Amino acid sequence: MPMSRLAPPISRPPADPVAAFRACHERIRLFTAGLHRIASLPDLADPRVPSAAAQARRYFSEGLPLHADDEDLSLAPRLRIVAPECGPLLDELERDHRQIDACLATLLPLLGTLAEEGRVPHTTFRVAVSFLSSLLLPHIAREEEELFPLCVRLSAEDRVDIARELVERRNPPASRTR
Ligand SMILES: [Fe+2]
Ligand SMILES: [Fe+2]
Repeated sequence: MPMSRLAPPISRPPADPVAAFRACHERIRLFTAGLHRIASLPDLADPRVPSAAAQARRYFSEGLPLHADDEDLSLAPRLRIVAPECGPLLDELERDHRQIDACLATLLPLLGTLAEEGRVPHTTFRVAVSFLSSLLLPHIAREEEELFPLCVRLSAEDRVDIARELVERRNPPASRTR
């Protein structure tokens, strides 16, 4: 179960930050599908499971939180100014992010155990994967349908600033090399 395209680093500001958000959503779908593939195996002792679980754990513990921060900290504050009517929607999406965090608090340790020991209770894992998927997939679909179209109202300056923040979030000053 290859899961390449593991959270490629954003090392330079994307020309279109909304396209970068959409690309993140494709990675979310890819890794969620990967979780379902693991969960649907007849036996979690399958030798392919530990590496797939380790990749998934890395994505959901590192890549996904960065994407949520991009939305909550870079996109939402600017949309609240240029599209004030989307405030309630942004509030709901931010609440979704916290719910997803709570779900991951259960799933990530299971992925860690699968990666390191190759087994966890199968039903527990299946339930955790289904729960995450049931939160995450409708959430990103809603963002694509209701939120991203509003981004046409962002100024060129806003877009440049969002793009710069995406890079800074992934390359904090202490880790930057000259
Ligand atoms: Fe989101
Ligand atoms: Fe998103």
